[in-house]
Amino acid sequence: MSGKPLLVTCGLPYTNGPCHIGHLRTYVPADFYVRYMRRSGEEVVFVCGSDNHGTPIVISAEQEGSTPRALSERYHQHFYDTFRRMEVIFDRFGMTDDPMNHETTRSIVQRLIENGYVYAKTVSQSYCPKCKRFLPDRYVEGTCPHCGAVARGDECDQGCGQHLEPGEIKDAVCKICGTKAEYREQEHYFFRLSAFRDFLLDYLPNLRGTATARNYALGWVKELLHDWCITRTLDWGVKFPGRDDLVVYVWVDAPIGYISFTKEWAETAGADWKNYWCGDDTRVTHFIGGDIIYHHCIFWPALLKGAGYGLPYAVVASGMVTIEGKKFSKSRGNVVWANDDYLDRGLPADYLRYYLLSYTSHTKELDFSWKVYAERVNSEIVGTLGNFIYRTMYFAGKEFSGVPDLAPRPVVIDEIARSLSVVDALMQDYDFKNAVDAMMALASFGNSYIQSNAPWKLIKEDRGAAEQAIADCLQIVKALILIFQPLMPDAMQRAWTMLGYDDDVADHPIAEATEPMKAHTLPEPAPLFAKIDEAQVRDFETVLAARVERAKENSEKKSPVVSIEEFENLDIRVAKVVSAEPIKGSKKLYKLIVDLGGEKRQVVSGIAGFYAPDELVGKDVALIANLAPAKIFGVESRGMILAAGDEASLLVPLRPVRPGTKVR
Ligand code: MSP
Ligand code: ZN
Repeated sequence: MSGKPLLVTCGLPYTNGPCHIGHLRTYVPADFYVRYMRRSGEEVVFVCGSDNHGTPIVISAEQEGSTPRALSERYHQHFYDTFRRMEVIFDRFGMTDDPMNHETTRSIVQRLIENGYVYAKTVSQSYCPKCKRFLPDRYVEGTCPHCGAVARGDECDQGCGQHLEPGEIKDAVCKICGTKAEYREQEHYFFRLSAFRDFLLDYLPNLRGTATARNYALGWVKELLHDWCITRTLDWGVKFPGRDDLVVYVWVDAPIGYISFTKEWAETAGADWKNYWCGDDTRVTHFIGGDIIYHHCIFWPALLKGAGYGLPYAVVASGMVTIEGKKFSKSRGNVVWANDDYLDRGLPADYLRYYLLSYTSHTKELDFSWKVYAERVNSEIVGTLGNFIYRTMYFAGKEFSGVPDLAPRPVVIDEIARSLSVVDALMQDYDFKNAVDAMMALASFGNSYIQSNAPWKLIKEDRGAAEQAIADCLQIVKALILIFQPLMPDAMQRAWTMLGYDDDVADHPIAEATEPMKAHTLPEPAPLFAKIDEAQVRDFETVLAARVERAKENSEKKSPVVSIEEFENLDIRVAKVVSAEPIKGSKKLYKLIVDLGGEKRQVVSGIAGFYAPDELVGKDVALIANLAPAKIFGVESRGMILAAGDEASLLVPLRPVRPGTKVR
């Protein structure tokens, strides 16, 4: 433990979509760690905020006809609420678009310029001749110059994972209109990352956190470091000092958000933010997913160093989350949403917190499976932990009306003390999975202890011995509540109340686990946890499978964006069906004659499986009247009838209109 207080941050969520279980693997372990450290006597500040800048947010806002600020405010609130429901509680949850972050970012960039780490250079940028604009980052798609995979503007997200500099992507196409991009010269500003090679080679081996973060970063630094273009031609973002036409790259102002949010917290708490960010003994600990190691272990320390700030003390990087064995993908529907799929179904935050931390080692890929989720909840949380706590309290209340006036046996106190120290060493080492396993091992110890002492039998022969056994088990219960609280705050508060205390368990240091309790009566116990049943699991799996299926259907016909002019090229009209007859040799097709008001048309339509001819005659339907003529089964068709979905539900006007009326 050094003198400076601990500052813990989490990778900031982008404000262009809802919270999912992949996100939670950053926030839940961080919250667990913070709660644990606080209850071990550390002073900890926990900050986060939403990441509002960057092209994906501008594009999403454009698509929904709103503004990036409005979109950001909405998702900001969404993340804030979701985190609370997941019992992830920050001291400050800010926004990167707030004035404090604009100010801090500009002053840091100014410092970098003064210190000679920023230079201007003319580079060729992708430009869309149709949209008449430069195409920063996600505005382009193309091929990765390193591995050939399909890549998006600034990142090869489906291939080698490398960061791409503006202009590097091959075969670039405008994401908005699909036009092949051109390249045009433009002046931009670069951060001299290459100048930090020796610094990083020296710094990284001592960086604490997970070995994965340290080792990946070291590997990349040894290979090659190129300078980063830190400006973009965009309106949305933090203006580059002295240039009103450029904003800084989102990956500059996003991590600076960590500093700004600390400042915002310090203002209200009456603390000094410099205590956390300046000097060479700072204890800034970043929790992130494995996808953003490069940004946090290479770019960010170099930026801080270049601007004269203290450096990150630890980077804790998790493995990525996969769903039912498949790659996480919002567009492919392979996603579990924090609210829709989990919390809104009434499932407890505590169960998911347990799953995320205990399923596998923090640095490995974590697969989310409903089946495994239910198994773990049922056997470990309900079967081991909940069962031991409940049976102990039940027996103590029934036979001894509460906590007896007896000191626990030394073997029990020793076992608790041993568990605490094992857990502590693992937590200090960011080895959360093994820490949680060691916690659960204490519950198993309790179960074996009560089973082998069998107080329900013992009480018939030796009431004193049975009372001692129950006093021992109650001590283990107390220890379990104290040590599990950082992981399952809600359930452990309920357990604490059941143990007869009316204060907050969070106010008690974990070390109290070995302190004996005074004799007191116990309220009626209730089970802490309930099982997840098989039918629920099947329901959840069905919802997920249906979503994947729907996404597949949608992606098969990927819709390009059309302009209003392009839409107006379609001549859609109301047409009255005059006659309908089957086409020889086809079960699906009818030959229809329709009235367009003054003109009769013959069209072929694939609705024979759904309607009888006399159901159609006299109906007003919607027709695309200017579709290129085609011969289908040898029958000429001059237009297409519109129908929705697999059941071919015909689109009919709600109010009567004359045949031939234009649809727009
Ligand atoms: N805005 C950036 C982070 C900027 S930090 C200065 C970002 N946002 S994000 O919304 O995509 O992700 C937020 C956090 O969730 C990050 O820590 C990220 O690593 C994590 N995860 C998002 N999806 C994930 C998985 N599928 N699996 C594990 N973690 C993932 O990145
Ligand atoms: Zn375009």
